[in-house]
Amino acid sequence: MTNENWADDIGAALETQGLVKQFASVKAINYLSIAVPKRGITSIIGPNGSGKSTLINCLSGTLPIDDGIVVLQGNSMRAILPHNNPSHGVTRTFQEVRLFNQMSVLDNMLVVLTERGVLKSLFEHKRSSYQSRAKELLESVGLWEKRGDQAESLSYGQRKLLEVGRALAMNVNIYLFDEPFAGLFPAMLERVTLLLEGLKQQGKSIIFIEHNMDLIRRLSDYTFVLDSGELLAEGPVNEVLDRPEVIEAYLGT
Ligand SMILES: Nc1ncnc2c1ncn2[C@@H]1O[C@H](COP(=O)(O)OP(=O)(O)OP(=O)(O)O)[C@@H](O)[C@H]1O
Ligand SMILES: [Mg+2]
Repeated sequence: MTNENWADDIGAALETQGLVKQFASVKAINYLSIAVPKRGITSIIGPNGSGKSTLINCLSGTLPIDDGIVVLQGNSMRAILPHNNPSHGVTRTFQEVRLFNQMSVLDNMLVVLTERGVLKSLFEHKRSSYQSRAKELLESVGLWEKRGDQAESLSYGQRKLLEVGRALAMNVNIYLFDEPFAGLFPAMLERVTLLLEGLKQQGKSIIFIEHNMDLIRRLSDYTFVLDSGELLAEGPVNEVLDRPEVIEAYLGT
């Protein structure tokens, strides 16, 4: 579901209140309360194991929440079902890419475009429009030439690009990207950068996890720093990255 005035509205893109996610004795997310701005690109950073992916997994319903609530599009929720994501206005990519490996690159894209309860007759009528949208999206991630190849035959970076393309196929307000740049060659990295900036220009809310400081500084408008599942710092990126406690968390001293 999209809201035409999404970026003009005041308020948060999404909020967590007292969010907890525990794995056995590990509190991966420990009573986390954050409000992500609607406008622009927000990064979630922090050392390895600080709970970044777990946070996105909870926000997208990939993992059930143990305690607390998530507020999406004004709805307070204790449980989020992954297949409800589009209706909650959210889509995501995974740190470990998830594709239909035995299907072609084009079919991987068409599945996302046609998946959402479209009536069969409508589907038939719109088939050509899906095809042209799939072409547009695959061109935007540089994979149109690869459209006939099986997803499993793609390189690591190409698989990441296809997953980003599949997320872009969803017309939602909130895009969650878990390390979309990790392992990409410079040209691919540049492409993903432009795609994220393009979403920003469309007024979407973009949240991404990243370790590379140059990219974090270049792309983020706002940043949250996690440490041991707790909020260590938040604010405009350049201000936050210069704080001693943030530097310390990264240096592990
Ligand atoms: N499915 C799981 N089962 C058990 N423990 C888990 C699971 N997922 C995450 N954890 C643990 O929860 C903590 C947070 O992990 P998470 O993957 O969220 O960290 P991260 O900040 O994304 O790290 P990285 O930067 O390495 O990707 C870690 O201690 C991790 O070992
Ligand atoms: Mg992670």
